[in-house]
Formats: sequence, structure tokens, C-alpha cells
Amino acid sequence: MSESSKWPQAGRERMIVPAPVGICGTGIANPEEGLLRKLDGQHVMMMGDNPALARFPPRPTLLDFFKFRFQQVTARHLLTSASRALDAGQSEKIVLACLLHDISNGTLIRSDHGYWGAQMIAPYVDEEIAWAVRYHQALRYYPDESVGYAYPESYRRFFGADYTPPDYIRRDAEYARAHRWYMTSRLITLYDIYFFDDSAPPDTERFEDIIGRHFRQPAEGLGLDDSPTAHMWRTMIWPNNFL
Ligand SMILES: [Fe+2]
Ligand SMILES: [Fe+2]
Repeated sequence: MSESSKWPQAGRERMIVPAPVGICGTGIANPEEGLLRKLDGQHVMMMGDNPALARFPPRPTLLDFFKFRFQQVTARHLLTSASRALDAGQSEKIVLACLLHDISNGTLIRSDHGYWGAQMIAPYVDEEIAWAVRYHQALRYYPDESVGYAYPESYRRFFGADYTPPDYIRRDAEYARAHRWYMTSRLITLYDIYFFDDSAPPDTERFEDIIGRHFRQPAEGLGLDDSPTAHMWRTMIWPNNFL
């Protein structure tokens, strides 16, 4: 079997149109029109496994996404945050919330990452964990001296010293502050790390048992199940599908 026949749409050039949300406003040219003109018997739009990416096993698990898809920066960020919570003796629920808090940045989308991430994981975790992931995005902008959380210095560099969060962030932070699960979300912001370095990430093995106890891995595999958010996981398995 030749190398190319191991992949879908064998024997043809498989063309990739980048996701609009990734290039909109960046100045990166959208190649769609030119690629549409190239379509013929030898040129198709990519659908299915991309040889440039690791192929998933038949029933993808949460850790498979860490290993095969997440950008290195995000994988290290999540594993380090969860390790800090574990080292501090936090509950397994908090550790899992830290491990998942920026999951949407791994391969899916950055804008409103807390809201996207919460939705992705909601069918598979305790309601409190998804809630905490949703609201950590807003709470990060607001200090809480009672737990030693200050406005992150890195945010001044990321956004400029004069950045003010929009009204919906302020509203959601106020709502979260008054909620009975406030501290779960606040602890995510506490163990979150605000700097990025090149140190080796903690091994995923450290979290296997906690994931096994608190993440409802679907028997068919993440993305191949019929949960309301399975399509989000499928999009990470096949990020280059034309449709
Ligand atoms: Fe975050
Ligand atoms: Fe984070």
C-alpha cells in the first residue's frame, strides 16, 4: 500500500481552506476562491484524516486530545495548572477543573474560551466543573484579596495597562462572585499560570486516575458519541474538513 493510499481521498491533492475564525481580520489571505477554481479530478477539498496530524485511535479519549491535538503551549499550561492544584492538596474536582479550564484554546478557538470550553466538557463532567470553567474567564480580571489573587501582571503586557473588560465580562464576574460555586471558579484563577516558559510539562499519567473518576468518557469515544457537544470534539479530530 502506498503512503498516500492510507489516507482518505487517496491519489488526489487534498486542499485545505482555513477556518474563517482563524484568519478573519489578520490579513492572512483566504485561499478559498483560488482553491475552488482548482477543483478537478485531481484536486479535492480535504475531508477526513489529515496526514500532517496524528491519527486518533478508534475511540478517542480526553488524554488523546492532549497528546495528539493540543498546541504545546496550552497542553503545558493545563497540565502545570492542574499539577499546582494537586500539589496544594485541592480536591479532585478542582484539579480536573484546572486541567480543563483553557481546553478550548487547545485546538478549537480562543475568543470567549471559558464559555466554549465549559460547553465542550459539560456533558462529561460534574455541573460545578463546567460552571467553574465558564466563569474563570470573567473572574480573572477581578482581584480577590481574600485568597491572594491579584490582577495578573501578564495581562498588562497582553492587553495594555489601560484595558477594561467589556460589560458582559463585568456582569458575569459579578454573577459568579455571588454564586455558591464561586470559590471553585476562583481557585482556577489562583492555580492558573500567567507566564509561559519552556519547562517540560508534567506527565499526563499524573491525572489518569482523576480523569477516570470524574470525566465520563463515552464508550464510542469523544466526538463519536451523540452528546450535544460531540461536534466540537470532532472538529478537533478533523480541523481541516471543508464542511
Ligand atoms: Fe483561561
Ligand atoms: Fe489559563
